[in-house]
Amino acid sequence: MTTIRDVAKLAGVSTTTVSHVLNKTRFVSVEGKAKVESAVVELNYVPNTVARSLKGGSSRVLGMLITDVNNPFYADLIQWVDQVAYRLGYNLILCNTQGNIERAKDYMVMLNQRRVDGMLMVSSDARQLPVSSYGTMPMVMMDSGPEQAGYDRILDDSEQGGYMATRHLLESGHMNIGMLAGPLDKSNSQHRIAGYHRAMAEANAEVDERWVQSGEFTYEGGAEAMSRLLDQPSPVTAIFACNDLMVMGAIRVAGKLGLIIPQDLSIIGYDDIPGAKYFNPPLTTISQPLEQLAEQAIAMLLARIKTPERESQRTLLPPRLVIRDSVAVRKPVEE
Ligand code: RIB
Repeated sequence: MTTIRDVAKLAGVSTTTVSHVLNKTRFVSVEGKAKVESAVVELNYVPNTVARSLKGGSSRVLGMLITDVNNPFYADLIQWVDQVAYRLGYNLILCNTQGNIERAKDYMVMLNQRRVDGMLMVSSDARQLPVSSYGTMPMVMMDSGPEQAGYDRILDDSEQGGYMATRHLLESGHMNIGMLAGPLDKSNSQHRIAGYHRAMAEANAEVDERWVQSGEFTYEGGAEAMSRLLDQPSPVTAIFACNDLMVMGAIRVAGKLGLIIPQDLSIIGYDDIPGAKYFNPPLTTISQPLEQLAEQAIAMLLARIKTPERESQRTLLPPRLVIRDSVAVRKPVEE
């Protein structure tokens, strides 16, 4: 079997140089890199990453635990994470928990056994996982993962996003604003609700507690919460929904009742999923900086792998308002 020594000999460089070229761990001159690459091809050399990780080295594999790949927000996030990992010479093992805590626990064990270098946890159901099941694997929590002290964490500033969404509705002349909140036990949902309340309080807008209806972060969750919201005696003229999937479920319910968006009811979502701009009407929404989220999450994880004892970090990324056609400007009612 061809070894790294054979490659080094043929290329006329040291084994360390070969390793740096293969792992992209240090700059190697263009000429040195080309020699190593052609020796690799000539000898058909395949590095044994499993053996390397068993010897305490790097497996060049990262795990990613995710709740729901059906949500296009997560599909998009995976695509960005994968792109960054690939560029840096890492493979990704994707584990879809489907909101099931037992699966999440099994995946943690499996990723430890596979000796992945580290893990990205994007799994809100993992908030119920005992910290003991995390093991000692380097880990970064993303999005709605658990608020565990001692772990690196990166997410969008959902409180600010909720504030921006509500503020946009207020600035468009709406005062009776309802909210389709996500699950009340998820931190991103809680932060978006807090942002809604901050904007409403700042504008002295009254909040009827029946205007805040929660549901799962899904089409169905949005539809159910919308039905309850539209059943309330005091009508709203605008709605902030905690994610774009909820908006789509909600609009279907509104349509069945003959309500037209945005003429009869304005609505703003959250995430800016790829389908948001193709929806009818194109959705006004809050966009999360997915590329930055992926880039910085992997940078954080690699820093943690390199320096396990470093202080834990928490990074909040700024969301952005994307104005399209689902919010109408409401003219003041004549006295
Ligand atoms: O958990 C689902 C939601 O959380 C996503 O739609 C996105 O908003 C994320 O923050």
